[in-house]
Amino acid sequence: MTEIPEHLLKRAAERRAAMTGGGDAAAAAPAGDAPAGDAAAAPAAVEKAAGPKAPAPIPTLDDDTPPAKPDIPVVAAAKRRKRVPYWAAPIVALLPLWAFLYLYAVKPAPAGSNDPIAIGKEVYAGNCAGCHLANGDGIKGGGVGQQLTDGHVLATFADPLDMAHWIAYGADGARPNGTYGDKKRPGGVMQLLGTKMPGFAASLTPEEIAAVTIYVREELSGGNPKDDPNFNVDTFTADPEKAAAIVQQVIDLKAGGDPDTKSIDGSESKSSK
Ligand code: HEC
Repeated sequence: MTEIPEHLLKRAAERRAAMTGGGDAAAAAPAGDAPAGDAAAAPAAVEKAAGPKAPAPIPTLDDDTPPAKPDIPVVAAAKRRKRVPYWAAPIVALLPLWAFLYLYAVKPAPAGSNDPIAIGKEVYAGNCAGCHLANGDGIKGGGVGQQLTDGHVLATFADPLDMAHWIAYGADGARPNGTYGDKKRPGGVMQLLGTKMPGFAASLTPEEIAAVTIYVREELSGGNPKDDPNFNVDTFTADPEKAAAIVQQVIDLKAGGDPDTKSIDGSESKSSK
């Protein structure tokens, strides 16, 4: 490094101080630290440059915003009107769903409501299966209720109305001697078991009793609708109200053995009591 004469260094420092306004700090700095002195002075210079605010831009013709025109009445009214509140958005969004559910709810009942097998199956599962078992095997399968399968109920009650009466009154439909059903039942007249079957006239509708009677006869016991021409799956499906009206007449016969079901229009009139 070449030696720079002391007086030249001093002059340079003075010039620098005069230019930057840095003053003594830079002037006193030894030769080696000169760049550091410059760096310290720089921010001051920047500050100076940024100091005075730039003058506002001169307005031009393009910038000229025309004076606001008065709104026409319709627009003014629209502006005054309150906006739809933000919470209404989800409600509006869900309207189609509501419309769909509404239409679905008021739609006529689904097909199957006239089907005694569907109704009877549900009634049976909720009221009878506990004692007679789901498949109707009853005591044969370990249940406490009588067996309903393999034509058992068809043999006990040749007339479905006698069976409907039995379901309506349970063991209260037995004779004082403890027998129930057809006296000339193939295989012998039926006798009450230890458990007494409850009646369902109070807890099931006549329509439900009609349906479960048909379900047990035709689905669980293997009965043929042709053997019950006046009271079967087809007559019920065609006119559930008529089937219910028939069962209502059966219920009106009251509890007790040997109800006079033959007197009812709809009886198969072949009961061999
Ligand atoms: C608490 C148990 C119990 C319930 C619940 C019950 N049963 Fe019974 N059921 C019996 C018993 C026990 C008998 C045999 C007669 C008796 O001892 O009362 C019987 C007999 C019958 C018979 C006569 C079968 C035959 O061929 O001798 C039919 C039909 C019948 N039940 C249908 C039904 C139907 C349908 C329901 C439901 C709506 C039902 N039971 C609910 C216990 C029950």
